[in-house]
Amino acid sequence: MKPFNEETVTSVHHWTDRLFSFKTTRDPAFRFSNGHFVMIGLPVNGKPLLRAYSVASANYEEELEFFSIKVPDGPLTSRLQHLKVGDKVIVGRKPTGTLLIDYLNPGKNLYLFGTGTGLAPFLSIIRDPDTYERFEKVILVHGCREVAELAYQDLIKRELPEHEFLGELVNGKLLYCPTVTREPFERQGRITDLINDGRLWNDFGLPALDPARDRAMICGSPAMLRDLKHMLEERHFTEGSTTTPGDFVIERAFAEQ
Ligand code: A2P
Repeated sequence: MKPFNEETVTSVHHWTDRLFSFKTTRDPAFRFSNGHFVMIGLPVNGKPLLRAYSVASANYEEELEFFSIKVPDGPLTSRLQHLKVGDKVIVGRKPTGTLLIDYLNPGKNLYLFGTGTGLAPFLSIIRDPDTYERFEKVILVHGCREVAELAYQDLIKRELPEHEFLGELVNGKLLYCPTVTREPFERQGRITDLINDGRLWNDFGLPALDPARDRAMICGSPAMLRDLKHMLEERHFTEGSTTTPGDFVIERAFAEQ
């Protein structure tokens, strides 16, 4: 059996000249947990060229969704950005990763820290009813350079709260905290700044970050992961893994592709 499936692109959405999303068909036998990533790609010169991508759709959905950067000279994304409905993409059969609520200790508030396409795994996690069963509040923090990069606002602010089944779970529990660094916006600064000056919790009337109560998931660039991990560890949060749950888990956003 081949280690991957061939899927068909069903829709493509370009957010900016740096970011786009696409959906594909899903092999009925393809199973994953919300927060997982999978290898995806295209055949190039007869060989599969694959990169890791977080699945942005939830595991109960019929289609798969991915959120990608466009790197002009990136071996894969320079090609992937031209995807059209009906094109084929390769999807690995072995989803994996550490951004699973199962790898977190029980807690009250769940902070999801994502920068750029690091939002992707959290789009799956905020669509998962289990997330709202395990946590009282889910604070989705998305940091971007520009306002236009704050993708999926309609899903977060309108679709989910109005959703037939999820709406009841999401309302009042899912808090959205977008922040922008390189142009004026209602909230400005890096996620690390929001933690340093307390806006992260003060803006939502929550108590300061505390490992006795709070849990976190982090997905972004290597520098962002390093800085946030350091800030959480300074506050005595322990890192979890696929074998030992902790107070926070991290995954690199698969950016430079
Ligand atoms: P900044 O504009 O100050 O670099 P990118 O598109 O480069 O991945 O960045 C996405 C967002 O992440 C930007 O707002 C960027 O801020 C921010 N960022 C970059 N490095 C860090 C870091 N070490 N910690 C927190 N946020 C970061």
